[in-house]
Amino acid sequence: MDVELKGITKRFGPVVANSNVNLTIRAGEVLGLLGENGAGKSTLMNILSGLYAADEGQILIDGKPVVFRGPGDAIAAGIGMVHQHFMLVPVFTVAENVILGVEPTGKLDWLDLAAARDQVNEINKKYGLEVDPGTRVEDLPVGLQQRVEIIKVLFRSADVLILDEPTAVLTPQEVTEFFEIVKSLRDAGKALVFITHKLNEILEIADRISVLRDGQIVGEGDPRTLTEAQLAEMMVGRPVVFEVEKAPYAPGRTLLDVSELTVLSEDDKIAVDHVSFQVKSGEVVGIAGVQGNGQSALIEALTGLHHAASGKILFLDKDITHASVRERHRMGMAHIPEDRQRSGMISNFTVAENMVLNTYYDERYASGPNIRWSDVFKSAAKYAADFDVRTPSVFTRAGSLSGGNQQKLIVARELERETCLVVAAQPTRGLDVGSIEYIHGRLMHARDTGDGVLIVSSELDEILSLSDRILVMFKGRFVAEFDATKGPVDKNAVGLAMAGAQA
Ligand SMILES: Nc1ncnc2c1ncn2[C@@H]1O[C@H](COP(=O)(O)OP(=O)(O)O)[C@@H](O)[C@H]1O
Ligand SMILES: [Mg+2]
Repeated sequence: MDVELKGITKRFGPVVANSNVNLTIRAGEVLGLLGENGAGKSTLMNILSGLYAADEGQILIDGKPVVFRGPGDAIAAGIGMVHQHFMLVPVFTVAENVILGVEPTGKLDWLDLAAARDQVNEINKKYGLEVDPGTRVEDLPVGLQQRVEIIKVLFRSADVLILDEPTAVLTPQEVTEFFEIVKSLRDAGKALVFITHKLNEILEIADRISVLRDGQIVGEGDPRTLTEAQLAEMMVGRPVVFEVEKAPYAPGRTLLDVSELTVLSEDDKIAVDHVSFQVKSGEVVGIAGVQGNGQSALIEALTGLHHAASGKILFLDKDITHASVRERHRMGMAHIPEDRQRSGMISNFTVAENMVLNTYYDERYASGPNIRWSDVFKSAAKYAADFDVRTPSVFTRAGSLSGGNQQKLIVARELERETCLVVAAQPTRGLDVGSIEYIHGRLMHARDTGDGVLIVSSELDEILSLSDRILVMFKGRFVAEFDATKGPVDKNAVGLAMAGAQA
């Protein structure tokens, strides 16, 4: 089954999410749809899967125009989408989730379920999915939940499968397995659309590539001849530097010395389990791990947002285990938090107000209790320019900036002052390559000028390209350590440690 999108335009108020897009999807082929955040990828595929109606343009299936009034129409026509956020019922089994909604009048009686289980097993076997139909979805790891979504779509006899950023939730090993599944679907004659912003992935899995930028198709091509550099330039609209430049490894004094640190989670479970490590001046220590293995609790304890249950944190030889956030900040600790919307900035404040969130009481900006706003605005404008924060003005509401610019605002605020230790959690999550390039450059600059940098990231490529030393966190403990100062670290070995394999 071949599908053609012709002249698709979609607006959300003043935003043109898709503009005159033409796209062909063919049976037995993986179409890679590449684009930065906000390029319009999900919108376009939501139109194809019947979730949104296009303002202009049409969809043709095997040459015939079709109109979808909802996802039901699309699935009846053989088009199914696996969304970025899964739509499963956690307390139901795999089989129950799969048949949910298929038979609008029927009940979930044992007959339906038994048949569904058989069919799930059949689909499993055909495409190497290996999901037990009797397991409750909430007991499955995220990687397998994703497969349930795929089974759901296949169960409805889809010939076209749309996968929206499917690898975002997978470990490197799971990505390898997932690609095998995608290939077997393709080889069985399915048409696939694989959405991503990751260049290496698209080159590995796609048979054909289309690049979206600002809602428009800006390039198409053959992955066998296209390079990452060419794709990145199409995606961003300018050349992108990939190699992070760094000075030779020359660590100095120990800045952070953590010993036997234990941190409990909200529900009193052990999140960080007797962890010890150090960060020196002039080095980047990367903490790799699948999300949810205690990294967040560790960072919160280091930055003072959450208290330690036991153990000790020394910063510049001073015991800060119980010091306040502001005290740590004053000593030169910068914190780029994991959740920029919640703890990184105040969306309703302006860019200028966010820029001085931790420093407005400084003598730079205040005379006693009076804030000198003209100085605040002047500095904010300078930092915004220095750190490439693209904003209409410093009076703009921070919440209205794009994710990349919000993050650069936080990086600017944290790094414009004298610091000695930078703690960065998921510093580039969800950002486009242009902003990633910029933030990586800034972190490396901090290292090269003598700061210690601690980075937590679930993006293994990010850890590998930035770190001098890599620690792998699994179930609250460091299960492996890699030295990256003498040559590249084996990605596969780190990936295995992330999955809990013993070295
Ligand atoms: N439901 C919506 N309402 C308003 N704006 C939207 C909606 N969905 C997407 N947009 C906007 O459309 C543009 C494209 O978004 P999206 O298709 O999600 O991009 P991508 O999937 O490539 O990251 C963005 O500017 C986004 O903010
Ligand atoms: Mg999207």
